[in-house]
Amino acid sequence: MTVINTRRVPPSRDILDPIEFASRDEIAALQLERLRWSLRHAYDNVEHFRKKCMVKGVHPDDLKTLSDLSKFPFTTKDDLRQTYPFDSFAVPMDQVVRVHASSGTTGKPTVVGYTQNDVDMWATVMARSIRAAGGRRGDKCHVAYGYGLFTGGLGAHYGAERLGCTVIPMSGGQTEKQIQLIQDFKPEIIMVTPSYMLVIADEMERLGLDSKACSLKIGIFGAEPWTQAMRSEIEARMGIDAVDIYGLSEVIGPGVANECIESKDGLHIWEDHFYPEIIDPETGEVLPDGELGELVFTSLTKEAMPVIRYRTRDLTRLMPGTARSFRRMGKITGRSDDMLIIRGVNVFPTQIEELILKDARLAPHYQLEVTREGHLDSLTVNVEMRPDAWEQAPAGAVAKDLKHHIKSYIGISTAVNVLAPATIERSLGKARRVVDKRPKEV
Ligand code: DLL
Repeated sequence: MTVINTRRVPPSRDILDPIEFASRDEIAALQLERLRWSLRHAYDNVEHFRKKCMVKGVHPDDLKTLSDLSKFPFTTKDDLRQTYPFDSFAVPMDQVVRVHASSGTTGKPTVVGYTQNDVDMWATVMARSIRAAGGRRGDKCHVAYGYGLFTGGLGAHYGAERLGCTVIPMSGGQTEKQIQLIQDFKPEIIMVTPSYMLVIADEMERLGLDSKACSLKIGIFGAEPWTQAMRSEIEARMGIDAVDIYGLSEVIGPGVANECIESKDGLHIWEDHFYPEIIDPETGEVLPDGELGELVFTSLTKEAMPVIRYRTRDLTRLMPGTARSFRRMGKITGRSDDMLIIRGVNVFPTQIEELILKDARLAPHYQLEVTREGHLDSLTVNVEMRPDAWEQAPAGAVAKDLKHHIKSYIGISTAVNVLAPATIERSLGKARRVVDKRPKEV
């Protein structure tokens, strides 16, 4: 007898928000009304944005249709750096009930703020995300995203509570304790970065536990790029459905978009709160749905810190809705600033990840090292062997195979070091996939 996994059955409409199955016309009408408000709110209350509009010669009244948004200036991380810490806020400080911050690779963190309404909206979209992933009222939800200035932990926490779950606010790190709580509290859902999920899975196996037999049914993974191959690996090892969640601090935190468990075909963007565009990262021109480019978001309802045309640097495409009426975005293939250009060829860490995971002898733990010799950049792939394969296959032969696959699929020559199990640094949150050892340009 085959057992039906009821979590993969499309949910009945009465547990969804009506807007999730509204017509496209209804969604567009709501977006236009909210967009008008958001532009006006930012213009009236954030001096930095108003000045940028003036320089461009645009005014909120110029927005007649959704596509008029393309007339307005972009917001970049650099704009937020210039308004550090609080000058991008559009409400008086006594209405800001919380701040978070995201660490950049350089300089000061980006600070983001929330009113009580913003925290409520965030909980609503996060609850929607967990429900899309197959979570339901009454589930126990183990949150292993970090709590603190990072938006992952608290974002997941409030959303899970809003949905009616029992939250286990574990935060990141203390891998053995994570496992003990999973064993003892028997959560159905885990929310964690995919790379740290693998650390937990490895540790379970090392302790002789059957990871597939644990209580978990759903993993909601995000905060870093991960591939379909990584999904298959995690699903097979943990015996769960692995679902993608996307978000960024500047726009709200986690819960901007989420995959539906019944389709796993890209992430539905909660377009009633976040308006997406795809642009050509070089020219800034808006691209039609279906084309690959840089994702840009405009907040439609955020009070404390409205963002207009925020350039995420994340690369993906927009697609029509399937399991929900909202448009979907493809899995993020990488960030435009994560992209390595090795002797003229664009390379994303996710492309290498896919090739690593095609070889059953290799573990999904890897790090790319970029060095410069003279004027030429070189890439070294450091990857671990799986413990069972380490005893049997000679590392040199495995490395030769991977080098060959990278050359034939991506078109670049790399050095490959196949290392013993447990030698590459493990992350407790976002994995560091690229170590750039090139001299810094001055
Ligand atoms: O990472 C928010 C988050 C927490 C999302 C937990 C999902 C789960 P930031 O620290 O501001 O916020 O980093 C945002 O992380 O621009 C992407 O480059 C990357 N990112 C987030 N989710 C995904 C994903 C949080 N599902 C940056 N796939 C974003 C690929 C992702 N990259």
